[in-house]
Amino acid sequence: MYDGIIITMKKTKLIIITIISALILSACSSTPVAGEIGTEPAALKPAAGEAPAGSADYDGSAANARRDDGRTVVGISMPDRLLERWNHDGTFLKEHFEDKGCEVILKYANNLIDTQISDIRSMIDGGADLLVITAVDGAALSSILDKAKSQGIKIIAYDRLLMNSDAVDYYVSYDNYKVGVLQAEYIIAALGLKNSKDSKNIEFVTGDPVDNNARFFYQGAVDTLLPYIENGKLTVPSNQQGFYETSTAQWSTDIAQQRLQIILNSYYPEGVTLDAVLCANDSTALGDTRALESDYAGKNSVVVTGQDADVANIYSIIEGKQSMTVFKALRDESVVAVALGLSILADEEPDGKLIMSSGWDFDCSYNTTDYDNGSKVVTSFLLSPITITKDNLEEKLFDTGYYARNASGLIYAVE
Ligand code: BGC
Repeated sequence: MYDGIIITMKKTKLIIITIISALILSACSSTPVAGEIGTEPAALKPAAGEAPAGSADYDGSAANARRDDGRTVVGISMPDRLLERWNHDGTFLKEHFEDKGCEVILKYANNLIDTQISDIRSMIDGGADLLVITAVDGAALSSILDKAKSQGIKIIAYDRLLMNSDAVDYYVSYDNYKVGVLQAEYIIAALGLKNSKDSKNIEFVTGDPVDNNARFFYQGAVDTLLPYIENGKLTVPSNQQGFYETSTAQWSTDIAQQRLQIILNSYYPEGVTLDAVLCANDSTALGDTRALESDYAGKNSVVVTGQDADVANIYSIIEGKQSMTVFKALRDESVVAVALGLSILADEEPDGKLIMSSGWDFDCSYNTTDYDNGSKVVTSFLLSPITITKDNLEEKLFDTGYYARNASGLIYAVE
């Protein structure tokens, strides 16, 4: 699937990189910070009457009124505070943009489409030069995105692709397909499917159908598991294996729990073993481990996958209730989004060279083929997810400094 133009760079340090990054960063750090009076550097703002590069529908007067206000404003629209990760994403993005001298408007939409639309409208009205958006519903924002585009505002889809809109300029995310592959590969290894002669039972709990990522996670997992379903080594007793029938509205823990409880009570009477639950992320995994505790008659330990390394799920893994999670370092994702945003604000047209020039110590791929949003193929920067288990979590999460323990030994994500 990913045979497009991909440039990958790992732990490379180039001198040229440092020079280019320094140029980009200096463009930003000389931007006045909130509350400071100053003149904006020419690199960040077009001259009066001049259209920003690449903006075909540029409405000169409105955009100039906005862009010539002596501020560089970044609007960050996050879906909700309920799921752990978006709180960290919002904080990281805000801090990193502010460090570079930008003003930030950060809003959370409580998982409501209308709230997100009005959040974005207020960012436009508040002088946003750049929008970084994680959509509640990827396909519901087209007209507000058009409005932003008509005013010369650039748009980065953050983590979730914005659908059916040509107003979106870039996409920053993790390789969503690979997340599903990692979950499936874990199940294949944990159940010893390659060499086993018996058939094992599995159930699918996938994500929110209005989140474009959910389908990618599902597809990565299903493509990897399909040979085993086809050769009979994996069976789905509920027979629910399509994307929609296994989806979980709003990635809700409670909805995931209730659905698995129903499945357990209907298809797993005493004597029928459930071997694995493919859970798309940690919020659904949390619900499913609860369902297994309350409603599963079997005595075996069921393989449960996840994604995000939420703190509650790290405890679950340590306690052996959840088998693995797929870790996506949010700090690194926000670093990529900020570097991209700064480059856009400097009126550059960033491409794969941004990866080379940034000298990041994590993997990132440039992809111009795989993320078609229905209106255009959105140029994407994709980071690489990793599998976390009980055996490697100390090394991959704690030794790396992404997580720590406080004086009482409680785990927290380091911000
Ligand atoms: C993100 C996941 C997250 C899920 C629920 C997805 O779009 O990629 O990391 O678990 O949303 O918030």
